[in-house]
Amino acid sequence: MTLKTAAELEKLKAIGQIVAQVLQAMGQALEPGMTTRELDQMGRKMLAAQGARSAPELSYRFPGATCISVNHEVAHGIPGATRLQAGDLVNIDVSAEKEGFFADTGASFVVPPGSPERLKLCRAGQQILKRTLAGVKAGLPLNSIGRRLQKEAHQRGYTLIQNLGSHGVGKALHEAPEFIAPYPDPKDKRMLKEGMVITIEPFVSTGAKQVFQLNDGWTLATKRGFDTVQYEHTLVVTQGKPILITQLG
Ligand code: CO
Ligand code: CO
Repeated sequence: MTLKTAAELEKLKAIGQIVAQVLQAMGQALEPGMTTRELDQMGRKMLAAQGARSAPELSYRFPGATCISVNHEVAHGIPGATRLQAGDLVNIDVSAEKEGFFADTGASFVVPPGSPERLKLCRAGQQILKRTLAGVKAGLPLNSIGRRLQKEAHQRGYTLIQNLGSHGVGKALHEAPEFIAPYPDPKDKRMLKEGMVITIEPFVSTGAKQVFQLNDGWTLATKRGFDTVQYEHTLVVTQGKPILITQLG
């Protein structure tokens, strides 16, 4: 969506803070022995307590309140009987709706204690997102996002998953502008405009470039042997610095 009024911004911020709080609480709760279903139940309760509804459930009938992806699973993982172990790489993606407004956030965590390599990858993923966010401004080409993501990832020796993109959000979980590529697509002539609400969510990997769907019909995974992290914020494009909707205030 493109924001037009201050009232819309307030509603978007409200759901942004809710998903940010849920993501943080779920990340802090991670411990060996817990199942991904238990983790999801916690997210579901927190969303309900704030009057928010799970966006993947509402929009796609996803079988869970949140998406929880473990190790070579990188997105849209279904919460279930998987028992977390120390050192597992866990991506939690929380998106929800309240009063018709949607926000979307995600982060990867290592179940403690984590290996130095995985913790380093997590820090790199956070930095790549942060540096790219800082350059988002009305009037720039949309593909400047992919250009920056690619530069930041390659500088650190990592790859980006090419077939997962960032996207418009706000009045729906996924809306225009659709598929904002994690590379500078020369055919993409779209522009960043003031008030535009988008996510930025690079999937940063130790070598994978593609995800494929598992037989459960939802989970997107890489080949085994790679580690991949995702960090995601919802933001509003302005003439200056973007407004980070899913940054804890
Ligand atoms: Co998300
Ligand atoms: Co998203």
